[in-house]
Amino acid sequence: AVVRVIGRDGSKQDLDVANGGQLMDALRDASTGVQGTCGGMMSCGTCHVYVDPSWVDRLPPKSEDESAMLEAIGELVELKPTSRLSCQIAVDDDIEGLCVEIAPPV
Ligand code: FES
Repeated sequence: AVVRVIGRDGSKQDLDVANGGQLMDALRDASTGVQGTCGGMMSCGTCHVYVDPSWVDRLPPKSEDESAMLEAIGELVELKPTSRLSCQIAVDDDIEGLCVEIAPPV
């Protein structure tokens, strides 16, 4: 799926991401600043992104663990209603055209 990524410097790029993985891996590999230190275990928060508001309701809802991790990093960075962990966003055709902004580092 093609995902539009807004970098921390405001730059925009369209990433063509293979279906089947998690968005975090693609963002990390594309040197967007996403680190994914915990490998998608919802324990680092370094994969935090802001999802475009039009997409919030189109993604599967957050799990309790994802919400808890976001809350934890909320002491360090600004949380928005659109905050998600990109390691919890599965890449498939359903997210074609998704737009995410890389959140500030934690
Ligand atoms: Fe660590 Fe997502 S990669 S919380």
